[in-house]
Amino acid sequence: MPRTKLPVRTRANSDKHDLYENAVQCSEAELDFVDTTYKKIRGKRAKALREDFCGTAATACEWVKLRAGNTSVGVDLDGPTLANGTKRHVAKLTPEQKKRITLQQRNVLNPTGPAIGVDVVLAMNFSYWIFQTRELMIEYFRAVRKSLAKDGILFMDHYGGADSYLEIKERRRIGGARRGYTYVWDQAHYNPLTGIKTNHIHFEFKKGPAWKKAFTYTWRLWSLVEIRELLAEAGFKNITVYWEGDDGRGSGDGVFKKTTRGEACRCYIAYISAEK
Ligand SMILES: C[S@@+](CC[C@H](N)C(=O)[O-])C[C@H]1O[C@@H](n2cnc3c(N)ncnc32)[C@H](O)[C@@H]1O
Repeated sequence: MPRTKLPVRTRANSDKHDLYENAVQCSEAELDFVDTTYKKIRGKRAKALREDFCGTAATACEWVKLRAGNTSVGVDLDGPTLANGTKRHVAKLTPEQKKRITLQQRNVLNPTGPAIGVDVVLAMNFSYWIFQTRELMIEYFRAVRKSLAKDGILFMDHYGGADSYLEIKERRRIGGARRGYTYVWDQAHYNPLTGIKTNHIHFEFKKGPAWKKAFTYTWRLWSLVEIRELLAEAGFKNITVYWEGDDGRGSGDGVFKKTTRGEACRCYIAYISAEK
């Protein structure tokens, strides 16, 4: 039987969270790193995970799929985003997997209920940069530390390099001819006096209008030095940075290795682990 062709992608027939996930998120690879690193550090597997700033909770869902016995809690402030994740991700889990995941609509600064005593807290895609002062960032780190089990570990990502200070756009084509689109990362504004930057994500389509400012983030561009100092001030131990390798063509290779020395490159992504 001939297959019905999907319509050419336009803004009208797209879900912005789906476009976002395809362009910037790879929950499987992220969890592979977190799972392996936790095991290396603690000599056992993590079971209970909390995904802070979870958005559509794609990663929290992957965690319960990874192993029977894994549990996850996704935390986000935004109700419509959580509802989107419930419809597109949680709904696809088996009834048994659904029993092992909880989504909470609340501020990550106020952990409650089953989110306490977890083995791992994730703060990914730089979302913790929403906290723009030292006081708020320390308050967040202290709240995370309190909610970790005694051998729990916080995992975060971080980006930097010369390009991160510039007002520039990066464009990337995602997907094929009919369903493909262009992802635009727009570093629209940066104030060197405050470190505050405004970034937008736009999506462009072959047909019809673009989705301008589908997402906007007002973040402080924190340095790795500042974040390591604040983690230590909040009481974390063994704060470790994992630097991404080079694919030989000027891009990252997706392999992150523990290091005490980074590189003065134009653009880098790193992971950080911080132990309770
Ligand atoms: C960049 S998205 C991250 C989505 C996903 N976790 C990822 O890795 O791509 C940031 C999310 O953080 C949420 N958020 C912002 N401030 C928050 C806060 N104080 N507490 C909980 N969620 C917050 C927003 O609603 C948004 O869904």
